Amino acid sequence: MITKCLFPAAGYGTRFLPATKAMPKEMLPILTKPLIQYGVEEAVEADMNVMAIITGRGKRAIEDHFDISYELENQIKGSSKEYLLDEIRDLINRCTFTYTRQIEMKGLGDAILKGKALVGESDPFGVILADDLCINPDGNGIMHQMIDLYEKYKCCIVAIMEVPQDQVHKYGVISGRTIEDGVYLVDDMVEKPDNDKAPSNLAIIGRYILTPDIFEVIKKTKPGKNGEVQITDALLSQAKKGMVLGYKFKGRRFDCGSVEGFVEATNYFYDMTHKKE
Ligand code: G1P
Repeated sequence: MITKCLFPAAGYGTRFLPATKAMPKEMLPILTKPLIQYGVEEAVEADMNVMAIITGRGKRAIEDHFDISYELENQIKGSSKEYLLDEIRDLINRCTFTYTRQIEMKGLGDAILKGKALVGESDPFGVILADDLCINPDGNGIMHQMIDLYEKYKCCIVAIMEVPQDQVHKYGVISGRTIEDGVYLVDDMVEKPDNDKAPSNLAIIGRYILTPDIFEVIKKTKPGKNGEVQITDALLSQAKKGMVLGYKFKGRRFDCGSVEGFVEATNYFYDMTHKKE
């Protein structure tokens, strides 16, 4: 059983300045719900109940969001608006939230390594990057699908999707051999390659299942792209031992780290919830 999910949430969100000057980008709402809540809901749908969040300076709003606000509760108790807190209350009741800070922005690999204190060294765990908002209206969520796959193969898994060749430079990119429909045994992976040097157009999306031995591998991983410790590079060492799968998930992903993807997600969720009116 994988019950722990790590949420790296220390980044600055510079693409959303000035909105993210004093507010964490993970708290930007798609309609009325912050991005990170969608991520936590995806983890809960996958039967996970320990949410380990890597925060940084200026990110306290995330902790307050997953806590009770007595003043607010008291204010709206018995009013017609009380139901608006139902979903978040349910999450707070079902999950344990733990936090630690990434002191310096040294990359996603480093952020995940900080999570060791929260998820421990004995169990596999999930990783969700909340600005990749993933949904599957036709069935199990993306993390749920990945956990099911983990039960079969018991190794690290990265979510992947095909992207246009001129977009590969924005992603970690894998190549590999198909071992079952939509599942690749990864033989190479590169963080944000030049468009013409990428090993394929299979891009890594912000969902991972990692085995705890990854922590030792990250410690040995030298800074890579942009001088940061990349999880892609750490996973390449695992892949060379034949221990990483790429999984073409079922569903849809919105790049909410970009204004365009954020607006697309907003329109999509608005249409979903308001189209009958
Ligand atoms: C991170 C990862 C990258 C992955 C991407 C998915 O990059 O480093 O491998 O493809 O998330 O969103 P970031 O977008 O945080 O720069």
